[in-house]
Amino acid sequence: MKNKIALLLVFLVFIPFISFSCNGTDNSRLEIKNPFIEAVEKIDSGLNIVQAKGKKLYKQYCAICHGEEGRGDGFNAFNLNPRPADLTEVCKEREDGYIIKIVTEGTKAVGKSSLSPPYGRTIQKEDINAIISYLKTLGN
Ligand code: HEC
Repeated sequence: MKNKIALLLVFLVFIPFISFSCNGTDNSRLEIKNPFIEAVEKIDSGLNIVQAKGKKLYKQYCAICHGEEGRGDGFNAFNLNPRPADLTEVCKEREDGYIIKIVTEGTKAVGKSSLSPPYGRTIQKEDINAIISYLKTLGN
């Protein structure tokens, strides 16, 4: 008798689990993003993986002043004098080393104002290179 009650209890405890696991229409827990597919989608949009990483970092650190498209029209731009540079032009004309110097040490290091901040202590070298490779795609 005791065994039967124990068996019944075990069964009752498991009923909810059985019914959940058989519920085929509930897909809400299956929305896991596949990082490989995301990477391929980025390549499809014309950027390789390094450039796509650079774009993400650019949006995080630079877009506030230089704008989403790099045209110097970020939402903080109106506060600044001189205005943020149009990177679609500057990055076509200038050497990588010049831009790397600005990102690392700020515009002050190239004899301009101190408004473009030095990121050498905030962004790793490898990530700065990714930003540069993204900037090179602007204005094309
Ligand atoms: C707080 C606003 C601000 C942020 C954030 C900012 N910049 Fe700037 N940037 C400026 C301003 C303003 C200038 C123009 C400075 C000048 O001419 O004295 C400038 C100029 C530049 C120049 C150009 C120089 C030239 O030769 O004309 C480059 C390249 C540049 N920024 C890159 C970046 C990158 C890359 C980032 C992000 C990692 C960034 N900036 C973040 C405000 C900003």
